[in-house]
Amino acid sequence: MAKIIGGITTSHVPAIGRAIAKGLQQDPYWKPFFDAYVPVQKWVAESKPDVVVVIYNDHGLNFFLDKMPTFAVGAAAEYRNADEGWGIPTMPPFQGDAALSWQLIESLVEDEFDLTTCQEMKVDHAFTLPMALLWPDQSWPVRVIPVCINTVQDPLPTARRCWKLGEAIGRAVAKWETDERVLILGTGGLSHQLDGERAGFINKDFDLKFMDSMVHDPQWATQFTTRELVEHTGTQGVELLMWLATRAALGAKVHELHRNYHIPISNTASGLMVLETGG
Ligand code: DHB
Ligand code: FE
Repeated sequence: MAKIIGGITTSHVPAIGRAIAKGLQQDPYWKPFFDAYVPVQKWVAESKPDVVVVIYNDHGLNFFLDKMPTFAVGAAAEYRNADEGWGIPTMPPFQGDAALSWQLIESLVEDEFDLTTCQEMKVDHAFTLPMALLWPDQSWPVRVIPVCINTVQDPLPTARRCWKLGEAIGRAVAKWETDERVLILGTGGLSHQLDGERAGFINKDFDLKFMDSMVHDPQWATQFTTRELVEHTGTQGVELLMWLATRAALGAKVHELHRNYHIPISNTASGLMVLETGG
């Protein structure tokens, strides 16, 4: 039976891609950020996941505002990155596993999630940068299944719905009759707002409370409406929905292996957690 070994949640700011391209990992601005990933890379290398379910939001590379699925799952043999206009180099392609993707999709649809299924799918910085933070040599020794949650165009799925999606992903993986080791990687957040009157908004108190809740009271954030989440975390801070879905996939108890919180990376309060299943 396939096993979820744990979850990693991380921010996904495009400027990280520029810093990687320019080799700025030891630069004073970037060092506290990149240093936090070193123990995580070690844990990933030792834990040897076979498959990574990447829960992220597309920002206009694969889906645009004219067609915006609430939930989309990739079912391709390969996923490629492309230029999003941030001026960061594209990354090598990622190997998919279409058969496992379809098993996930069938289980989620049976669980009443009406998905968009993507047999072709470009993956943007929210997918590629967290992968590059876990595997800095960009060798990608894993197969990937992209799961997209719309957090860019109203109406967004509620926090409660994203929690349920994560639970359903956990149930789906448990049904795989393989001995795959599965890592859930949730990307986005934490608090940030890129536009409007509150551009630059960051809410450290809320972020820290949310990170604690991931361990001790995981459904805490499901009490909030989307509008309340925007008020607390900023218009793009709602990307914490990916963290919630990731946490829900891990089951009742988790053991926190690693955490980092750093303000700012670009306009974002950057967060990182590693949670092992089982507690
Ligand atoms: C930034 C953060 C994001 O999550 C994103 O998708 C784009 C930009 C930023 O802080 O610059
Ligand atoms: Fe984003």
